[in-house]
Amino acid sequence: MKLKAAFTGAGYIINIHARAAEAQKDVELAAVVARPSEKAEALRQKFQIPEQYESVEQMLQAGGVDALVIGTPNFLHASQAIAALEAGVHVMVEKPMAMNTGEAKKMIEASLKSGAKLMVAHFWRFDADVLWLKEQAQKLGKIIRTKGYGVHTHWGPSGWFTQKALAGGGAMVDMGIHALDTARFLLGDPQPVCVYAKSGTYYQDFDVDDTGMTIVEWDNGAVSYVESGWWQPHSDGPEAATQLYGTRGFGQLFPTLLEMPNRETQKVDIIRSGFEYPRKEHCSQSIYDSQMAYFIKCIHEDRTPSPGAAEGLINMKVVDAVYESARTGTSVEIKR
Ligand SMILES: NC(=O)c1ccc[n+]([C@@H]2O[C@H](COP(=O)([O-])OP(=O)(O)OC[C@H]3O[C@@H](n4cnc5c(N)ncnc54)[C@H](O)[C@@H]3O)[C@@H](O)[C@H]2O)c1
Repeated sequence: MKLKAAFTGAGYIINIHARAAEAQKDVELAAVVARPSEKAEALRQKFQIPEQYESVEQMLQAGGVDALVIGTPNFLHASQAIAALEAGVHVMVEKPMAMNTGEAKKMIEASLKSGAKLMVAHFWRFDADVLWLKEQAQKLGKIIRTKGYGVHTHWGPSGWFTQKALAGGGAMVDMGIHALDTARFLLGDPQPVCVYAKSGTYYQDFDVDDTGMTIVEWDNGAVSYVESGWWQPHSDGPEAATQLYGTRGFGQLFPTLLEMPNRETQKVDIIRSGFEYPRKEHCSQSIYDSQMAYFIKCIHEDRTPSPGAAEGLINMKVVDAVYESARTGTSVEIKR
């Protein structure tokens, strides 16, 4: 029987998720929940979705839905996810998982209580270049440090993204989190120990950060440096571009390759991934298709999704520490 999927939000990312769901054989697009209703209606017509609701609660009352994909403004993630999870509906929620660690923990509780799956859409973990580098990373010896970028140059979002009350934070939760999660994934998901960050608002007039520099110390001894930003005059790499500095060599994303010093020839051997760079589309639909296929597989095979609650929560802990460090000017320890 086909899995009945609902979608909440009707903007940029939900269109991509709906297309990804359409590409799956065993998924039926069952319902859309969005405000204003004209936006929901447009999505409903585009993907020929039979049901349309004003709220997740209304949808749950009507029943007939197995999974919910959440692509609404960040302040809605926790309440919508908790309502669905409590009703036994599986959830894939966009990043950032929630507004803060406290909300993320409540989402996890709801998932554990009902047994419904909770996945967090850290989609770079499904990218072919990222997966190639992760597989190759063992050749680099011990990875001592990473550098990564979650930066928009010469533009930035507007509307709810730039309001603290609706988004929770700015460029760090919008873009920096991609670089943070990619670095952590490539390092083998270590636990964060300590965070030092500077962030501020320099390019536009809003109450969230448009510039940030974050240093995360991990429990395996590695250190990650992450740049986040909107409207920046320059970035050393596109979204999620990450460099790995190991004891035996260097690896990087976009272009994706390894640089391995060769003692015999006294030269540096370049091992290329073979993936095209620059890409036609940096965030291509195929990454989201793979992510959706994995979410469905986790439901069918009763697996705990990864990226899921655990990964989403760690990212929220780091984000909270980033803002605390930027506010206090000191480093912030992260307790397990
Ligand atoms: N992984 C990625 O590549 C990626 C890219 C963009 C956005 N995102 C994330 O996706 C989420 C949405 O971002 P977006 O760019 O699609 O934003 P968007 O502004 O384009 O869309 C948000 C949608 O939410 C709807 N909405 C607002 N209030 C609502 C309510 N009360 N109930 C239901 N729907 C409501 C709006 O109609 C709008 O269609 C954010 O959490 C963002 O961080 C992820």
